[in-house]
Amino acid sequence: MQGRFITFEGGEGSGKSTHARLLADRLNSLNIDVVLTREPGGSAGAEIIRHILLSGIAKPLGAETEAILFAAARDDHMRATIRPALAAGKWVICDRFIDSTRVYQGALGNVDAKLIRSLERVTVGDDMPDLTFILDVPATVGLARATRRRGKAATDRFEAESIEFHQELRKAYVAIVESEPKRCIIIDGRAPREVVADRIWTTVEQRLHPGLERLAAETAAP
Ligand SMILES: Nc1ncnc2c1ncn2[C@@H]1O[C@H](COP(=O)(O)OP(=O)(O)O)[C@@H](O)[C@H]1O
Ligand SMILES: [Mg+2]
Repeated sequence: MQGRFITFEGGEGSGKSTHARLLADRLNSLNIDVVLTREPGGSAGAEIIRHILLSGIAKPLGAETEAILFAAARDDHMRATIRPALAAGKWVICDRFIDSTRVYQGALGNVDAKLIRSLERVTVGDDMPDLTFILDVPATVGLARATRRRGKAATDRFEAESIEFHQELRKAYVAIVESEPKRCIIIDGRAPREVVADRIWTTVEQRLHPGLERLAAETAAP
């Protein structure tokens, strides 16, 4: 059976990496095979492109070129990592995916939505995520978390954008959820970590796999 494909989206410091990992651990504890991956990156070719994108050296080339580079990375990621895992029945959890491109390069970078959709068609095709969590925190909260997490390291290309940029980003994510409510769900990322994790788990249970709780109970039984 084909595995399930779950993505995590949201601004900097919204908790994507934290909750992608927690969900993967929880599924693993039920003996479900999980591939935890991220974008840009997640395959050898895509990690090279990640370096180009996050270092900021592609920024002068414009948002359109950045969108095309993200698509090139995604194409390799889909072929080398995501499709083989799903075909083997594994669950794939990806930290950022197409919605990041729609928001950062599309809504905020003014790249034509038609180009973004064409790139999605070529790279992702019918293998869209089954479920997308959009973690929502006010821009100030997310950036403060990201600053704390980073310590003395330099900001990356997107963390370095202004607070207004991060506020617009949040609005663009909300618009995606409104247009695709079956795939996407907003989760308030300000709640304590355990509360957020529980909401995510309940959603997975309800939307993807009604038997997961039973499986969990059986696994916990002595
Ligand atoms: N619900 C939460 N409450 C408090 N802090 C959180 C919560 N979720 C994540 N964090 C912390 O915020 C920081 C950023 O989280 P992270 O998962 O790295 O965000 P992202 O991957 O979205 O940038 C981390 O230090 C993490 O421990
Ligand atoms: Mg992260």
